[in-house]
Amino acid sequence: MRIQIWKSLLMGGVVACFTLSPSNAIDMDLTIKHLGDGQSIIRSDKTKRYLLLPIEEKAGDAQFYLISDNDVVQTFSIRLAIDHVDYFVPLDISFYDIKKLSFNIRSVPDSAVCWKEIKLSDEFDKTNREQYRPLYHFSPEYGWMNDPNGMVYKDGEYHLFYQYNPYASIWGNMHWGHAVSKDLIHWEHLPVALAPDGLGTIFSGSCVIDKDNTAGFGAGAMIAFYTSAGERQTQSMAYSLDNGRTFKKYSRNPVLTSTVRDFRDPKVFWHAETGKWIMVLAAGQEIQIYSSSDLKHWEMESAFGEGQGAHGGTWECPDLVQLPVKGTELKKWVMICNLSPGGPSGGSATQYFVGEFDGKKFINESAPEVIKWMDWGKDHYATVTWSNAPENRKIALAWMSNWTYANSVPTYQFRSSNSIPRELYLYTWKGETYMASVPVGEVESLRGKAVKKKAFKVDHTYNIESLFSGNNGAYEIEMTVKNVNAKEIVMQLYNSKGDEVDFSYNLETEIFSIDRTKSGNVDFGGGFSAVTIAPIEKQDEYKLRLLVDKASIEAFDGDGKFVMTNLVFPQEPYNSMSFYSKGGKFNVTSLTIYKLGK
Ligand code: FRU
Repeated sequence: MRIQIWKSLLMGGVVACFTLSPSNAIDMDLTIKHLGDGQSIIRSDKTKRYLLLPIEEKAGDAQFYLISDNDVVQTFSIRLAIDHVDYFVPLDISFYDIKKLSFNIRSVPDSAVCWKEIKLSDEFDKTNREQYRPLYHFSPEYGWMNDPNGMVYKDGEYHLFYQYNPYASIWGNMHWGHAVSKDLIHWEHLPVALAPDGLGTIFSGSCVIDKDNTAGFGAGAMIAFYTSAGERQTQSMAYSLDNGRTFKKYSRNPVLTSTVRDFRDPKVFWHAETGKWIMVLAAGQEIQIYSSSDLKHWEMESAFGEGQGAHGGTWECPDLVQLPVKGTELKKWVMICNLSPGGPSGGSATQYFVGEFDGKKFINESAPEVIKWMDWGKDHYATVTWSNAPENRKIALAWMSNWTYANSVPTYQFRSSNSIPRELYLYTWKGETYMASVPVGEVESLRGKAVKKKAFKVDHTYNIESLFSGNNGAYEIEMTVKNVNAKEIVMQLYNSKGDEVDFSYNLETEIFSIDRTKSGNVDFGGGFSAVTIAPIEKQDEYKLRLLVDKASIEAFDGDGKFVMTNLVFPQEPYNSMSFYSKGGKFNVTSLTIYKLGK
Protein backbone atom coordinates (compact mmCIF):
# COMPACT_ATOMS: atom_id res chain seq x y z
CA MET A 1 0.00 0.00 0.00
CA ARG A 2 2.82 2.37 0.90
CA ILE A 3 4.43 1.75 -2.43
CA GLN A 4 1.24 2.82 -4.19
CA ILE A 5 1.21 6.12 -2.32
CA TRP A 6 4.84 6.81 -3.10
CA LYS A 7 4.23 6.01 -6.71
CA SER A 8 1.41 8.48 -7.06
CA LEU A 9 3.29 11.25 -5.23
CA LEU A 10 6.20 10.81 -7.57
CA MET A 11 4.05 10.75 -10.68
CA GLY A 12 2.51 14.06 -9.67
CA GLY A 13 5.71 15.97 -9.13
CA VAL A 14 9.04 14.59 -10.05
CA VAL A 15 8.90 12.12 -12.85
CA ALA A 16 6.50 14.08 -15.05
CA CYS A 17 8.75 17.14 -15.43
CA PHE A 18 12.04 15.29 -15.86
CA THR A 19 14.32 15.98 -18.79
CA LEU A 20 17.85 14.62 -18.78
CA SER A 21 20.42 17.34 -19.30
CA PRO A 22 23.74 17.61 -17.46
CA SER A 23 23.70 20.50 -15.01
CA ASN A 24 26.07 20.74 -12.07
CA ALA A 25 27.29 17.12 -11.99
CA ILE A 26 30.70 16.75 -10.34
CA ASP A 27 31.01 12.99 -10.61
CA MET A 28 31.07 12.97 -14.43
CA ASP A 29 29.24 9.65 -14.43
CA LEU A 30 26.19 11.19 -12.79
CA THR A 31 23.68 13.64 -14.12
CA ILE A 32 21.95 15.63 -11.42
CA LYS A 33 18.91 17.71 -12.14
CA HIS A 34 17.41 20.02 -9.51
CA LEU A 35 13.67 20.42 -9.75
CA GLY A 36 12.97 23.15 -7.21
CA ASP A 37 11.60 22.88 -3.66
CA GLY A 38 14.50 20.69 -2.57
CA GLN A 39 13.74 17.92 -5.06
CA SER A 40 16.40 16.46 -7.31
CA ILE A 41 16.77 13.54 -9.64
CA ILE A 42 19.95 11.68 -10.54
CA ARG A 43 20.65 9.38 -13.45
CA SER A 44 23.60 7.66 -15.01
CA ASP A 45 24.48 5.45 -17.96
CA LYS A 46 27.54 3.99 -16.32
CA THR A 47 27.27 0.57 -14.64
CA LYS A 48 28.96 0.46 -11.24
CA ARG A 49 28.23 -1.52 -8.10
CA TYR A 50 27.49 1.26 -5.60
CA LEU A 51 26.14 4.72 -5.35
CA LEU A 52 28.13 6.26 -2.50
CA LEU A 53 25.97 8.59 -0.44
CA PRO A 54 27.62 11.39 1.58
CA ILE A 55 26.20 11.69 5.10
CA GLU A 56 26.16 14.55 7.57
CA GLU A 57 24.67 13.27 10.82
CA LYS A 58 23.29 16.64 11.93
CA ALA A 59 21.47 17.20 8.62
CA GLY A 60 17.70 16.72 8.53
CA ASP A 61 16.13 13.61 7.05
CA ALA A 62 15.77 13.59 3.28
CA GLN A 63 13.70 11.00 1.41
CA PHE A 64 15.43 8.77 -1.11
CA TYR A 65 13.49 6.87 -3.81
CA LEU A 66 15.18 4.31 -5.96
CA ILE A 67 13.15 4.03 -9.16
CA SER A 68 13.60 1.21 -11.63
CA ASP A 69 11.62 1.15 -14.83
CA ASN A 70 9.22 3.75 -13.38
CA ASP A 71 8.48 1.81 -10.17
CA VAL A 72 9.69 2.67 -6.67
CA VAL A 73 11.77 -0.35 -5.71
CA GLN A 74 13.35 1.00 -2.55
CA THR A 75 12.92 4.03 -0.34
CA PHE A 76 14.58 5.21 2.84
CA SER A 77 15.31 8.34 4.80
CA ILE A 78 18.84 9.66 4.64
CA ARG A 79 20.81 12.57 6.11
CA LEU A 80 22.51 13.74 2.93
CA ALA A 81 25.35 16.18 3.63
CA ILE A 82 24.39 19.84 3.58
CA ASP A 83 27.55 21.57 4.96
CA HIS A 84 30.17 18.86 5.26
CA VAL A 85 30.55 15.09 4.85
CA ASP A 86 30.93 12.96 7.98
CA TYR A 87 31.22 9.69 6.04
CA PHE A 88 29.81 7.78 3.06
CA VAL A 89 27.39 4.86 3.00
CA PRO A 90 26.97 2.57 -0.02
CA LEU A 91 23.75 1.82 -1.88
CA ASP A 92 24.22 -1.43 -3.77
CA ILE A 93 22.65 -0.95 -7.21
CA SER A 94 24.22 -3.97 -8.88
CA PHE A 95 20.85 -5.79 -9.12
CA TYR A 96 19.44 -3.15 -11.46
CA ASP A 97 19.91 -2.05 -15.03
CA ILE A 98 21.41 1.42 -14.64
CA LYS A 99 19.72 2.59 -17.84
CA LYS A 100 16.34 2.04 -16.23
CA LEU A 101 17.27 3.60 -12.87
CA SER A 102 16.80 7.01 -11.35
CA PHE A 103 17.46 8.25 -7.84
CA ASN A 104 14.85 10.73 -6.69
CA ILE A 105 15.59 12.79 -3.63
CA ARG A 106 13.41 15.09 -1.59
CA SER A 107 14.16 17.80 0.98
CA VAL A 108 17.78 18.60 0.10
CA PRO A 109 18.62 22.19 -0.97
CA ASP A 110 20.36 22.69 -4.35
CA SER A 111 23.29 24.32 -2.51
CA ALA A 112 23.99 21.17 -0.40
CA VAL A 113 27.52 19.78 -0.49
CA CYS A 114 26.19 16.27 -1.19
CA TRP A 115 25.64 17.06 -4.87
CA LYS A 116 29.38 17.54 -5.31
CA GLU A 117 30.27 14.46 -3.29
CA ILE A 118 27.79 11.79 -4.33
CA LYS A 119 29.46 9.27 -6.65
CA LEU A 120 29.36 5.90 -8.34
CA SER A 121 32.00 3.38 -7.38
CA ASP A 122 32.81 -0.30 -7.62
CA GLU A 123 34.39 -0.19 -4.15
CA PHE A 124 33.25 0.68 -0.66
CA ASP A 125 36.07 0.78 1.84
CA LYS A 126 35.08 -1.02 5.06
CA THR A 127 38.54 -0.88 6.64
CA ASN A 128 38.18 0.08 10.27
CA ARG A 129 38.78 3.77 10.94
CA GLU A 130 37.57 3.88 14.53
CA GLN A 131 39.70 4.14 17.64
CA TYR A 132 36.78 2.73 19.65
CA ARG A 133 35.91 -0.30 17.55
CA PRO A 134 35.89 -3.33 19.86
CA LEU A 135 38.24 -6.19 19.11
CA TYR A 136 36.28 -9.12 20.51
CA HIS A 137 32.72 -7.80 20.83
CA PHE A 138 30.44 -7.81 17.83
CA SER A 139 29.96 -4.51 16.00
CA PRO A 140 28.58 -3.82 12.51
CA GLU A 141 31.15 -3.12 9.77
CA TYR A 142 29.47 0.24 9.18
CA GLY A 143 26.16 1.88 10.07
CA TRP A 144 23.96 1.75 13.11
CA MET A 145 23.12 -1.26 15.29
CA ASN A 146 20.73 -1.63 18.24
CA ASP A 147 19.01 -4.75 19.62
CA PRO A 148 20.31 -8.25 18.93
CA ASN A 149 17.53 -10.13 17.09
CA GLY A 150 16.62 -13.64 16.03
CA MET A 151 19.53 -15.39 17.70
CA VAL A 152 19.35 -19.04 16.79
CA TYR A 153 21.75 -21.97 16.44
CA LYS A 154 21.68 -24.33 13.48
CA ASP A 155 24.13 -26.78 11.89
CA GLY A 156 27.18 -25.58 13.80
CA GLU A 157 26.47 -21.87 13.43
CA TYR A 158 25.28 -19.31 15.94
CA HIS A 159 23.23 -16.75 14.03
CA LEU A 160 23.02 -13.18 15.16
CA PHE A 161 20.59 -10.82 13.48
CA TYR A 162 20.39 -7.24 14.68
CA GLN A 163 18.54 -3.95 14.34
CA TYR A 164 20.46 -2.23 11.58
CA ASN A 165 20.47 1.04 9.66
CA PRO A 166 22.73 0.68 6.60
CA TYR A 167 22.20 4.34 5.63
CA ALA A 168 23.76 6.14 8.64
CA SER A 169 25.33 5.38 11.99
CA ILE A 170 22.22 6.62 13.74
CA TRP A 171 18.85 4.95 14.33
CA GLY A 172 16.41 4.70 11.40
CA ASN A 173 15.34 2.56 8.39
CA MET A 174 15.39 -0.58 10.52
CA HIS A 175 16.61 -3.74 8.76
CA TRP A 176 17.83 -7.02 10.20
CA GLY A 177 21.60 -7.19 9.78
CA HIS A 178 23.12 -10.68 9.96
CA ALA A 179 26.30 -12.40 11.13
CA VAL A 180 27.27 -15.99 11.98
CA SER A 181 29.82 -17.51 14.32
CA LYS A 182 31.03 -20.97 15.23
CA ASP A 183 32.18 -19.91 18.70
CA LEU A 184 30.14 -16.80 19.68
CA ILE A 185 33.32 -14.71 19.50
CA HIS A 186 34.55 -14.63 15.89
CA TRP A 187 31.81 -13.32 13.62
CA GLU A 188 31.42 -13.41 9.88
CA HIS A 189 29.36 -10.54 8.45
CA LEU A 190 26.63 -11.59 6.03
CA PRO A 191 24.32 -9.50 3.82
CA VAL A 192 21.21 -7.88 5.31
CA ALA A 193 18.60 -10.56 6.05
CA LEU A 194 15.37 -8.54 6.12
CA ALA A 195 14.68 -5.12 4.60
CA PRO A 196 11.69 -2.78 5.05
CA ASP A 197 8.60 -3.43 2.92
CA GLY A 198 5.07 -2.16 2.41
CA LEU A 199 4.11 -3.21 5.95
CA GLY A 200 6.86 -1.15 7.58
CA THR A 201 10.42 -1.24 8.76
CA ILE A 202 11.72 -4.39 10.47
CA PHE A 203 11.78 -4.10 14.26
CA SER A 204 13.07 -6.62 16.78
CA GLY A 205 12.11 -10.27 17.02
CA SER A 206 13.32 -13.85 17.16
CA CYS A 207 13.96 -17.02 15.14
CA VAL A 208 13.06 -20.65 15.69
CA ILE A 209 13.98 -23.86 13.89
CA ASP A 210 10.79 -25.63 12.82
CA LYS A 211 12.13 -29.21 13.05
CA ASP A 212 8.76 -30.88 12.53
CA ASN A 213 7.53 -28.60 9.76
CA THR A 214 4.58 -27.31 11.81
CA ALA A 215 4.33 -24.21 9.62
CA GLY A 216 4.60 -26.09 6.34
CA PHE A 217 7.60 -24.20 4.97
CA GLY A 218 9.77 -27.31 5.24
CA ALA A 219 11.28 -29.42 8.03
CA GLY A 220 14.15 -27.55 9.65
CA ALA A 221 13.12 -24.16 8.25
CA MET A 222 14.53 -21.18 10.09
CA ILE A 223 11.54 -18.97 10.82
CA ALA A 224 11.91 -15.33 11.81
CA PHE A 225 9.29 -13.37 13.73
CA TYR A 226 9.59 -9.60 13.70
CA THR A 227 7.55 -6.48 14.18
CA SER A 228 6.45 -4.72 11.03
CA ALA A 229 6.69 -1.11 12.13
CA GLY A 230 4.37 0.88 9.88
CA GLU A 231 1.79 3.40 11.04
CA ARG A 232 0.93 0.72 13.60
CA GLN A 233 2.98 -2.19 14.86
CA THR A 234 2.04 -5.72 13.75
CA GLN A 235 3.84 -9.06 13.85
CA SER A 236 5.13 -10.73 10.71
CA MET A 237 7.10 -13.83 9.81
CA ALA A 238 9.66 -14.88 7.19
CA TYR A 239 11.37 -18.21 6.55
CA SER A 240 14.71 -19.42 5.30
CA LEU A 241 15.51 -22.82 3.80
CA ASP A 242 19.22 -22.09 3.36
CA ASN A 243 20.40 -21.52 6.92
CA GLY A 244 19.51 -17.84 7.04
CA ARG A 245 21.32 -16.85 3.83
CA THR A 246 18.04 -15.75 2.24
CA PHE A 247 14.58 -15.21 3.73
CA LYS A 248 11.20 -15.22 2.12
CA LYS A 249 8.52 -13.16 3.84
CA TYR A 250 5.25 -15.01 4.46
CA SER A 251 2.67 -13.79 1.93
CA ARG A 252 -0.12 -13.44 4.53
CA ASN A 253 1.67 -11.10 6.89
CA PRO A 254 0.94 -9.72 9.40
CA VAL A 255 0.15 -12.79 11.51
CA LEU A 256 -0.75 -10.89 14.68
CA THR A 257 -2.32 -7.48 15.19
CA SER A 258 -3.58 -5.38 18.10
CA THR A 259 -4.97 -1.94 18.83
CA VAL A 260 -2.18 -1.37 21.39
CA ARG A 261 0.27 1.22 20.03
CA ASP A 262 3.53 -0.24 21.44
CA PHE A 263 3.05 -3.84 20.32
CA ARG A 264 6.35 -5.41 19.42
CA ASP A 265 9.42 -7.64 19.73
CA PRO A 266 7.96 -11.18 19.44
CA LYS A 267 10.06 -13.91 21.04
CA VAL A 268 8.92 -17.41 20.04
CA PHE A 269 9.90 -20.76 21.59
CA TRP A 270 8.69 -24.36 21.71
CA HIS A 271 6.93 -25.40 24.94
CA ALA A 272 7.40 -29.16 25.10
CA GLU A 273 4.93 -29.82 27.97
CA THR A 274 1.93 -28.44 26.07
CA GLY A 275 3.31 -29.25 22.61
CA LYS A 276 2.79 -25.68 21.43
CA TRP A 277 4.71 -22.70 20.22
CA ILE A 278 4.64 -19.75 22.60
CA MET A 279 5.12 -16.11 21.70
CA VAL A 280 5.80 -13.41 24.28
CA LEU A 281 5.75 -9.82 23.18
CA ALA A 282 5.64 -6.35 24.67
CA ALA A 283 2.28 -4.63 24.60
CA GLY A 284 2.38 -1.24 26.29
CA GLN A 285 3.24 -1.82 29.94
CA GLU A 286 2.72 -5.56 29.89
CA ILE A 287 3.89 -8.73 28.24
CA GLN A 288 1.31 -10.69 26.28
CA ILE A 289 1.59 -14.45 25.92
CA TYR A 290 0.20 -16.23 22.83
CA SER A 291 0.22 -19.88 21.72
CA SER A 292 0.11 -21.57 18.32
CA SER A 293 0.31 -25.01 16.72
CA ASP A 294 1.46 -23.86 13.28
CA LEU A 295 3.32 -20.59 13.95
CA LYS A 296 0.81 -18.77 11.73
CA HIS A 297 -2.31 -18.62 13.91
CA TRP A 298 -1.87 -17.20 17.37
CA GLU A 299 -4.23 -17.27 20.32
CA MET A 300 -3.84 -15.00 23.32
CA GLU A 301 -3.34 -16.93 26.56
CA SER A 302 -2.64 -14.24 29.18
CA ALA A 303 -0.86 -11.01 30.01
CA PHE A 304 1.76 -10.38 32.64
CA GLY A 305 3.12 -7.23 34.19
CA GLU A 306 0.48 -4.95 35.63
CA GLY A 307 1.72 -3.77 39.03
CA GLN A 308 4.82 -6.00 38.77
CA GLY A 309 8.42 -4.80 38.95
CA ALA A 310 9.72 -1.57 37.42
CA HIS A 311 7.49 0.51 35.15
CA GLY A 312 9.63 3.66 34.71
CA GLY A 313 9.58 3.30 30.91
CA THR A 314 8.29 1.33 27.95
CA TRP A 315 8.52 -2.45 28.22
CA GLU A 316 10.35 -3.93 25.24
CA CYS A 317 12.07 -7.11 24.02
CA PRO A 318 10.72 -9.76 26.44
CA ASP A 319 11.98 -13.31 26.68
CA LEU A 320 10.75 -16.31 28.67
CA VAL A 321 13.28 -18.99 29.45
CA GLN A 322 13.64 -21.94 31.83
CA LEU A 323 16.85 -22.00 33.87
CA PRO A 324 18.41 -24.40 36.41
CA VAL A 325 18.69 -23.34 40.05
CA LYS A 326 22.33 -23.95 40.96
CA GLY A 327 22.93 -26.61 43.59
CA THR A 328 19.42 -28.10 43.20
CA GLU A 329 17.50 -30.27 40.73
CA LEU A 330 15.03 -27.43 40.28
CA LYS A 331 14.29 -25.39 37.19
CA LYS A 332 12.36 -22.16 37.18
CA TRP A 333 10.99 -19.87 34.47
CA VAL A 334 12.42 -16.41 34.04
CA MET A 335 10.60 -13.59 32.30
CA ILE A 336 13.19 -11.18 30.94
CA CYS A 337 11.79 -7.71 30.37
CA ASN A 338 13.79 -4.77 29.04
CA LEU A 339 12.58 -1.30 29.85
CA SER A 340 13.60 2.16 28.75
CA PRO A 341 13.91 4.52 30.55
CA GLY A 342 13.58 3.50 34.22
CA GLY A 343 16.83 1.53 34.72
CA PRO A 344 18.69 1.53 38.05
CA SER A 345 21.20 4.15 36.87
CA GLY A 346 18.90 5.98 34.45
CA GLY A 347 17.77 5.11 30.95
CA SER A 348 17.64 1.61 29.49
CA ALA A 349 18.08 -1.63 31.49
CA THR A 350 17.03 -5.26 31.76
CA GLN A 351 14.82 -6.49 34.60
CA TYR A 352 13.58 -10.04 35.11
CA PHE A 353 11.00 -11.99 37.08
CA VAL A 354 11.40 -15.53 38.39
CA GLY A 355 8.40 -17.86 38.60
CA GLU A 356 6.30 -20.54 36.98
CA PHE A 357 4.93 -20.99 33.49
CA ASP A 358 2.41 -23.68 32.48
CA GLY A 359 2.15 -22.89 28.78
CA LYS A 360 -0.56 -20.34 29.41
CA LYS A 361 0.28 -18.06 32.30
CA PHE A 362 3.46 -16.77 33.91
CA ILE A 363 3.29 -16.33 37.71
CA ASN A 364 5.92 -14.21 39.43
CA GLU A 365 7.02 -15.98 42.63
CA SER A 366 8.20 -12.73 44.28
CA ALA A 367 6.17 -9.90 45.76
CA PRO A 368 5.06 -7.58 42.94
CA GLU A 369 7.18 -4.68 44.20
CA VAL A 370 10.43 -6.70 44.08
CA ILE A 371 12.68 -5.49 41.24
CA LYS A 372 15.50 -7.68 39.93
CA TRP A 373 18.10 -6.25 37.54
CA MET A 374 20.09 -8.45 35.23
CA ASP A 375 22.97 -5.99 34.94
CA TRP A 376 23.61 -2.90 37.06
CA GLY A 377 25.49 -0.81 34.50
CA LYS A 378 24.16 1.76 32.07
CA ASP A 379 24.96 -0.16 28.91
CA HIS A 380 23.05 -3.42 28.90
CA TYR A 381 19.80 -3.43 26.97
CA ALA A 382 17.46 -5.42 24.73
CA THR A 383 18.77 -8.67 26.21
CA VAL A 384 17.37 -11.91 24.80
CA THR A 385 18.59 -15.51 24.62
CA TRP A 386 19.69 -17.87 21.86
CA SER A 387 17.17 -20.32 20.54
CA ASN A 388 18.05 -23.99 19.89
CA ALA A 389 21.56 -23.62 21.41
CA PRO A 390 23.47 -26.91 21.70
CA GLU A 391 23.44 -28.85 25.00
CA ASN A 392 20.48 -26.75 26.10
CA ARG A 393 22.83 -23.83 26.76
CA LYS A 394 21.06 -20.67 27.88
CA ILE A 395 23.04 -17.83 26.38
CA ALA A 396 21.99 -14.19 26.54
CA LEU A 397 23.23 -11.23 24.56
CA ALA A 398 22.61 -7.53 25.14
CA TRP A 399 23.04 -4.36 23.12
CA MET A 400 25.81 -2.46 24.87
CA SER A 401 24.31 1.02 24.91
CA ASN A 402 21.56 3.17 26.38
CA TRP A 403 18.82 5.03 24.52
CA THR A 404 19.62 8.24 26.42
CA TYR A 405 22.89 8.73 24.46
CA ALA A 406 23.17 5.83 21.99
CA ASN A 407 22.93 8.07 18.93
CA SER A 408 25.69 10.41 20.06
CA VAL A 409 28.51 8.18 21.36
CA PRO A 410 31.81 9.28 19.77
CA THR A 411 32.09 6.88 16.80
CA TYR A 412 31.09 7.54 13.18
CA GLN A 413 31.90 4.61 10.95
CA PHE A 414 29.66 2.40 13.09
CA ARG A 415 27.62 2.89 16.23
CA SER A 416 27.21 0.30 18.99
CA SER A 417 28.42 -3.13 19.83
CA ASN A 418 26.99 -6.05 21.79
CA SER A 419 27.87 -7.37 25.23
CA ILE A 420 29.90 -10.52 25.55
CA PRO A 421 27.49 -13.49 25.27
CA ARG A 422 26.64 -14.68 28.78
CA GLU A 423 25.59 -18.04 30.14
CA LEU A 424 22.68 -17.85 32.61
CA TYR A 425 21.74 -19.76 35.75
CA LEU A 426 19.71 -19.15 38.90
CA TYR A 427 20.79 -19.10 42.54
CA THR A 428 18.98 -18.51 45.79
CA TRP A 429 19.92 -15.84 48.29
CA LYS A 430 17.97 -14.85 51.42
CA GLY A 431 14.83 -16.61 50.20
CA GLU A 432 14.78 -15.01 46.73
CA THR A 433 15.90 -16.58 43.47
CA TYR A 434 18.18 -14.45 41.29
CA MET A 435 19.80 -14.81 37.89
CA ALA A 436 23.57 -14.94 37.47
CA SER A 437 25.40 -14.28 34.19
CA VAL A 438 28.91 -15.43 33.32
CA PRO A 439 30.85 -14.85 30.10
CA VAL A 440 30.63 -17.88 27.79
CA GLY A 441 33.66 -20.15 28.19
CA GLU A 442 34.67 -19.46 24.57
CA VAL A 443 36.01 -16.04 25.67
CA GLU A 444 38.93 -17.81 27.29
CA SER A 445 40.18 -18.93 23.88
CA LEU A 446 41.13 -15.29 23.27
CA ARG A 447 43.56 -15.18 26.17
CA GLY A 448 47.20 -14.46 25.48
CA LYS A 449 49.94 -15.32 27.96
CA ALA A 450 48.85 -14.69 31.57
CA VAL A 451 50.61 -11.79 33.30
CA LYS A 452 50.49 -12.70 36.99
CA LYS A 453 51.28 -9.94 39.48
CA LYS A 454 52.69 -10.86 42.90
CA ALA A 455 50.25 -10.70 45.82
CA PHE A 456 50.42 -7.40 47.71
CA LYS A 457 49.03 -5.56 50.72
CA VAL A 458 47.18 -2.27 50.41
CA ASP A 459 47.59 0.11 53.31
CA HIS A 460 46.55 3.45 51.78
CA THR A 461 47.73 3.08 48.15
CA TYR A 462 49.48 0.65 45.82
CA ASN A 463 50.33 1.38 42.17
CA ILE A 464 50.89 -0.82 39.14
CA GLU A 465 52.48 1.41 36.52
CA SER A 466 52.05 -0.98 33.62
CA LEU A 467 49.47 -3.74 33.33
CA PHE A 468 51.28 -5.28 30.35
CA SER A 469 53.26 -4.07 27.39
CA GLY A 470 51.55 -3.71 24.02
CA ASN A 471 48.20 -2.88 25.60
CA ASN A 472 45.82 -2.13 22.71
CA GLY A 473 42.76 -1.74 24.95
CA ALA A 474 41.45 -5.35 24.77
CA TYR A 475 42.20 -7.34 27.90
CA GLU A 476 40.86 -9.17 30.92
CA ILE A 477 41.70 -8.76 34.60
CA GLU A 478 40.94 -11.40 37.23
CA MET A 479 41.57 -10.62 40.85
CA THR A 480 40.92 -11.78 44.37
CA VAL A 481 40.77 -9.22 47.14
CA LYS A 482 40.85 -10.25 50.83
CA ASN A 483 39.70 -7.64 53.24
CA VAL A 484 41.50 -7.12 56.57
CA ASN A 485 39.68 -4.18 58.07
CA ALA A 486 39.10 -1.66 55.26
CA LYS A 487 35.82 0.24 55.09
CA GLU A 488 36.20 0.77 51.37
CA ILE A 489 38.24 -1.07 48.76
CA VAL A 490 38.95 1.03 45.68
CA MET A 491 40.63 0.07 42.40
CA GLN A 492 41.35 2.47 39.61
CA LEU A 493 42.22 1.88 35.95
CA TYR A 494 43.93 4.92 34.42
CA ASN A 495 46.06 6.13 31.54
CA SER A 496 48.77 8.76 31.00
CA LYS A 497 46.21 11.30 29.77
CA GLY A 498 44.54 11.46 33.19
CA ASP A 499 41.49 9.35 32.23
CA GLU A 500 40.38 7.02 35.03
CA VAL A 501 37.65 4.60 36.02
CA ASP A 502 37.08 3.82 39.70
CA PHE A 503 35.73 0.53 41.03
CA SER A 504 34.76 0.43 44.68
CA TYR A 505 33.48 -2.05 47.24
CA ASN A 506 31.99 0.04 50.01
CA LEU A 507 31.65 -2.34 52.95
CA GLU A 508 29.77 0.10 55.12
CA THR A 509 27.01 0.82 52.63
CA GLU A 510 27.33 -2.63 51.01
CA ILE A 511 27.54 -1.14 47.54
CA PHE A 512 29.76 -1.88 44.55
CA SER A 513 30.19 1.05 42.18
CA ILE A 514 31.85 2.07 38.95
CA ASP A 515 32.61 5.77 38.48
CA ARG A 516 33.17 6.76 34.85
CA THR A 517 32.82 10.51 35.34
CA LYS A 518 36.51 11.03 34.49
CA SER A 519 36.88 8.05 32.13
CA GLY A 520 37.75 10.06 28.98
CA ASN A 521 35.25 11.62 26.59
CA VAL A 522 32.08 11.90 28.68
CA ASP A 523 30.66 15.14 27.27
CA PHE A 524 28.33 14.01 24.53
CA GLY A 525 25.19 14.31 26.67
CA GLY A 526 22.39 11.97 27.64
CA GLY A 527 23.66 11.52 31.19
CA PHE A 528 26.72 9.54 30.08
CA SER A 529 28.90 10.90 32.88
CA ALA A 530 27.73 8.69 35.74
CA VAL A 531 28.43 6.49 38.75
CA THR A 532 26.61 3.16 38.62
CA ILE A 533 25.92 1.13 41.76
CA ALA A 534 24.90 -2.39 42.74
CA PRO A 535 24.05 -3.87 46.14
CA ILE A 536 26.57 -6.38 47.49
CA GLU A 537 27.00 -8.32 50.70
CA LYS A 538 29.80 -7.58 53.13
CA GLN A 539 32.32 -10.41 52.70
CA ASP A 540 35.94 -11.16 53.58
CA GLU A 541 36.83 -11.98 50.01
CA TYR A 542 35.76 -10.71 46.61
CA LYS A 543 36.56 -12.04 43.19
CA LEU A 544 36.24 -9.61 40.30
CA ARG A 545 36.63 -10.21 36.58
CA LEU A 546 36.85 -7.26 34.21
CA LEU A 547 36.46 -7.62 30.44
CA VAL A 548 37.82 -4.50 28.78
CA ASP A 549 37.49 -3.94 25.04
CA LYS A 550 38.48 -0.51 23.71
CA ALA A 551 35.32 1.33 24.77
CA SER A 552 33.61 -1.00 27.23
CA ILE A 553 34.10 -2.55 30.65
CA GLU A 554 32.04 -5.50 31.84
CA ALA A 555 32.57 -6.16 35.54
CA PHE A 556 31.57 -9.66 36.70
CA ASP A 557 31.48 -10.75 40.28
CA GLY A 558 33.43 -14.04 40.62
CA ASP A 559 30.46 -16.29 39.87
CA GLY A 560 28.38 -13.75 37.99
CA LYS A 561 26.01 -12.84 40.83
CA PHE A 562 26.26 -9.24 39.83
CA VAL A 563 27.34 -7.75 36.53
CA MET A 564 27.91 -4.14 35.65
CA THR A 565 28.41 -3.12 32.03
CA ASN A 566 29.55 0.40 31.17
CA LEU A 567 30.91 2.10 28.07
CA VAL A 568 34.00 4.33 28.39
CA PHE A 569 35.83 6.43 25.78
CA PRO A 570 39.41 6.90 27.04
CA GLN A 571 41.92 8.90 24.99
CA GLU A 572 44.25 5.89 25.11
CA PRO A 573 43.91 2.43 26.73
CA TYR A 574 44.04 2.34 30.52
CA ASN A 575 47.33 0.61 31.21
CA SER A 576 47.90 1.49 34.87
CA MET A 577 46.09 0.42 37.99
CA SER A 578 45.95 1.80 41.52
CA PHE A 579 44.52 0.34 44.69
CA TYR A 580 43.32 2.45 47.62
CA SER A 581 42.05 1.45 50.99
CA LYS A 582 39.90 3.65 53.14
CA GLY A 583 39.65 3.13 56.89
CA GLY A 584 41.88 0.01 57.09
CA LYS A 585 43.82 -2.53 55.02
CA PHE A 586 43.16 -5.18 52.41
CA ASN A 587 45.25 -7.70 50.46
CA VAL A 588 45.21 -8.44 46.77
CA THR A 589 45.94 -12.15 46.85
CA SER A 590 45.83 -12.72 43.09
CA LEU A 591 45.88 -10.47 40.07
CA THR A 592 46.11 -11.91 36.56
CA ILE A 593 45.93 -9.97 33.33
CA TYR A 594 45.37 -11.48 29.89
CA LYS A 595 45.65 -9.67 26.65
CA LEU A 596 42.57 -10.69 24.65
CA GLY A 597 42.97 -10.91 20.94
CA LYS A 598 41.63 -12.74 17.96
C1 FRU B 1 14.40 -1.62 21.79
C2 FRU B 1 13.56 -1.23 20.60
C3 FRU B 1 12.53 -2.31 20.29
C4 FRU B 1 12.24 -2.10 18.85
C5 FRU B 1 13.58 -1.69 18.32
C6 FRU B 1 13.52 -0.69 17.21
O1 FRU B 1 15.64 -1.04 21.81
O2 FRU B 1 12.92 0.01 20.84
O3 FRU B 1 11.38 -2.27 21.12
O4 FRU B 1 11.76 -3.24 18.23
O5 FRU B 1 14.29 -1.12 19.40
O6 FRU B 1 14.77 -0.48 16.65
